[in-house]
Amino acid sequence: MISNRESIEAQAVAAFTKRFGTAPAVVASAPGRVNLIGEHVDYNDGLVLPAAIDRTTAIAAAPRDDGRLVLVTDGGQEGTFAAGRLHPSQRRAWTDYLTGVAALLIARGMPPRGASMTVASNVPRGAGLSSSAALELAAAFAFTELNGMTVPPAETALLCQRAEHEFAGVKCGIMDQFVSCLGRRGHALLLDCRTLAYEQVPLPAGADLLVCDTGVRRALGTSEYNRRREECGEGLRLLADRLGTLAALRDVSPAQLAAHGGSLPPVVRRRCEHVVSEIARVTLSASALRAGNLAEFGKLMYDSHLSLRRDYEVSCAELDQLVDICAEAEGVYGARMTGAGFGGCVICLVRREHAEGVIRRINDEYPARTGKKASVYACASDDGAQSRPFHTHDDHTTTP
Ligand code: GLA
Repeated sequence: MISNRESIEAQAVAAFTKRFGTAPAVVASAPGRVNLIGEHVDYNDGLVLPAAIDRTTAIAAAPRDDGRLVLVTDGGQEGTFAAGRLHPSQRRAWTDYLTGVAALLIARGMPPRGASMTVASNVPRGAGLSSSAALELAAAFAFTELNGMTVPPAETALLCQRAEHEFAGVKCGIMDQFVSCLGRRGHALLLDCRTLAYEQVPLPAGADLLVCDTGVRRALGTSEYNRRREECGEGLRLLADRLGTLAALRDVSPAQLAAHGGSLPPVVRRRCEHVVSEIARVTLSASALRAGNLAEFGKLMYDSHLSLRRDYEVSCAELDQLVDICAEAEGVYGARMTGAGFGGCVICLVRREHAEGVIRRINDEYPARTGKKASVYACASDDGAQSRPFHTHDDHTTTP
């Protein structure tokens, strides 16, 4: 059977051949992700536990002689740029992710050569499954493959994160780019966002991860996201006045916050409560996962959701409904919103034999409770970004 990744790569190649009339020279692809736990803590130097999933963005590419970057989606949108003069556009277009990655690779020594690229993807956009990181990583791997460059994986992830800050205007943490680069099939990735040390933790056999998409997309997501970051910064400054130098909220223990939280403005205090408690939950969750204790893991997922809803205020009515529906269903260990929030998806960890029943239940209940339709599916874990030279079948045939 053809894998998800092969089929998306084939779409990118077909789009390339159709648009440019020739085969591409390279193909690259990178996955979206779910975050099992550790939400809104990556930019506080915390710990996160995401997994790369079988939703992929692929890019087919070839060099050009005219110094132009011609970028095309499989939906037919197109943008053309001078490779030697790439700047943030202020337009907030999908091309920002690619031009941002190209500009930063050029600043790192990549020749400012032209390239033709087509993009194909089945990572839903704006759903909290890291469609932007998948696009950045696929672009980074396509450019480096085209130019014969080797960039260490952690550096590639950091470069893509910078592209998102500087070209897309989202002050994201490192989680999405890191797992899209270094995820491994069959594993969740426990990442220390301060040191970038990581451990691949095997996912449990016999349990499914359901992605339950509310269908809600929040236009205000970026400004709210950046505001949460600022609120954490404010909490850090105020706590440092009492506790002495702190590099990040990671350095505040639950006991210290309990002792000094009263001096913070209420909103800032709740943001800090979430961050400090969530980092502690990740450590506990990783131990539960290693021990195969899914009941404990699931409980921590519910706690995480509650904290995101009540203290961090990044959930929404539809996400809460989905978590409730999951909690009422048979065979569910736990459920929580995943990603930045303000809409997007819930992930649900369920005993495999009950997965179908949960999907049915959500499809019945969610429209009844919200008037909206959810899209629910089991996702599989996948490997991180890859690239390779592209050979047509003709390359392998020898003429007598
Ligand atoms: C987005 C960001 C990540 C992370 C999550 C929330 O996905 O890109 O860096 O902050 O939100 O956990």
